[in-house]
Amino acid sequence: MQQLSGARSSMRPLFGQRGAARAVHASAGASSDYRQSPLFRACATLTAFALLIMLALPLARRTLLGVGLATTLVSVPMGPASAEGSNPASASASSGVVIDVEHRRGEVRYSEAEWRQRLTPEQYQVLRREATERRWTSPFNYEKRPGVFNCAGCGAPLFNMSSKYESGTGWPSFFQPLPDAVTEVPDYSIVFMPRTEVRCRRCQGHLGHVFDDGPQPTGLRYCMNGAAMTFEASGEAAAAAEQAAA
Ligand SMILES: *[C@@H]1O[C@H](CO)[C@@H](O)[C@H](O)[C@H]1NC(C)=O
Repeated sequence: MQQLSGARSSMRPLFGQRGAARAVHASAGASSDYRQSPLFRACATLTAFALLIMLALPLARRTLLGVGLATTLVSVPMGPASAEGSNPASASASSGVVIDVEHRRGEVRYSEAEWRQRLTPEQYQVLRREATERRWTSPFNYEKRPGVFNCAGCGAPLFNMSSKYESGTGWPSFFQPLPDAVTEVPDYSIVFMPRTEVRCRRCQGHLGHVFDDGPQPTGLRYCMNGAAMTFEASGEAAAAAEQAAA
C-alpha cells in the first residue's frame, strides 16, 4: 500500500515530488521495527533452515550413493562376473584384485615414478593428483565426431560420444559413462560442498566429478577433465576426416 500511494503521488506536478520522497523515507524508518519482532525472527530462521535443507538434500543423496558404492568396491573383490571378454586386464580382475580407493590403485597399477614417466605433466596432475584443468582449455569441449573417449592413464574406454552434451561449463560433459567404466567416490575436499569424484575404474585415475543437474535420461552431469582422456574417432568418421584433409 505504501508503494501504491507513493506511485500515485508521483503523478502530481513536480513540486509534489519532495513530499512523496519524504513519505517513502519515513515509511522505511518505521519499518525497521518489525525486524525486532519475535514473529519476524522466527519466520526468517525457518526460511533459512528450509533453504539449507533444500540445498543439502540432493548433495546428501549423491554423497550417500557414493559412500555405498565406495564401500562395495573396497570390501568385495571383483569376481569373474566383471570380466570383459577380450580385455587383458580382466585376467587380474578374476584373480581377485580389490580396488584400493584410498591409494588410487585399480587393476592397472604403476608406481608414482612410472606414472610421471608415462603421462604428460598435465595428465599426471589431473589423473594422479586430482587437479582440475582450467575451464574452456580442453579441445574436447568442441569435439563432436562419433567415437569414444578413453582414459589417458590406461586406455580404458570411458564415454561414448553419443552421451556427450554441451553443458556450458567449459569442461567436456556427459550424461552417462560406458557400462562399468568408472568408479564414483565421495569427495570432501571442499568444506561444506560434498561432491562425488569420478575415476577410471581400471586405473583409479581422477577424471572429474558427477552432479545431479544433467539432462535426461539420467539427469546426471559427468563433468570431466579433457586432460584425463584421449579421443578415438570411430573408424568411419576417422576415414572421412582423412579424406577431407587429403
Ligand atoms: C556409441 O554410440 C553409438 C551410437 O549410439 C553406437 O553405434 C556405438 O556402438 C557406441 N560405441 C560404444 C563403444 O559403445
